[in-house]
Amino acid sequence: MNQPIGFLDSGLGGISVLKEVRKLLPNEDYFYYGDSFHHPYGEKAKKELYDIVNDGVKYLLSKNCKLIVIACNTATTMVLAELRKNYTDVLFVGTEPAIKVAHDFYPDKRVLVLATKGTIESERFHFLQENYPVKEAYFVACPKLAPLIEEGDSSKFDTYLKEILLPYKGKVDVIVLGCTHYVFVKDDIKKIMGDIILLDGNLGIAKRVKSLLKDKKLLSSNREGSVEIINNLSEDMQRRSYQLLK
Ligand code: DGL
Repeated sequence: MNQPIGFLDSGLGGISVLKEVRKLLPNEDYFYYGDSFHHPYGEKAKKELYDIVNDGVKYLLSKNCKLIVIACNTATTMVLAELRKNYTDVLFVGTEPAIKVAHDFYPDKRVLVLATKGTIESERFHFLQENYPVKEAYFVACPKLAPLIEEGDSSKFDTYLKEILLPYKGKVDVIVLGCTHYVFVKDDIKKIMGDIILLDGNLGIAKRVKSLLKDKKLLSSNREGSVEIINNLSEDMQRRSYQLLK
């Protein structure tokens, strides 16, 4: 069925998810809504965030999306359960920190989970923490990291990244990137931390989108897909979003 797949994030981060989904499903049309205007989601209270994300969902539904990917760990862990209750007919796929992947594949490793404050404090995150333990785990909220990636000023960003990571250098084997923005700075993290395993949930999301659409017989027919990106803050953010998709 040739309706678009919708994506929502507080800006550029979810483009990292869109990239992965598009690799697996190149025949689909995509509509990406970057809500940079309300960035950062990670510092918002739950009620406020629900209202913001709900507006985004309504917008994507007005674009006739057949499935909505909440391409943001913060929105997923804080408000997706409530969205599912209120939109029982809508197909949602969420993004959450790959703590289960760390537990399943690296149970004997030392794991550092980086995420926003909102994610780390959410009930869903506590559930993941308790149910998928690893040998040793550290959970660190990085309130400035996603905003600095949005800003794109690499000098400020590098100093902050070092501040977060250096205390764990040599003390962890795996880093879970629990925010879709962080996926864009994998190389910077590797430069600081050296030989380290980096985990994000993006491939899992792509597979989930595919299987859900297949089950519901909603996959698009064999044709070339398209991507439309809207960023509600500025044309510059919109341009950067298209660049990141390359
Ligand atoms: N990209 C978002 C996430 O995955 C959050 C960044 C923010 O708005 O705080 O959590």
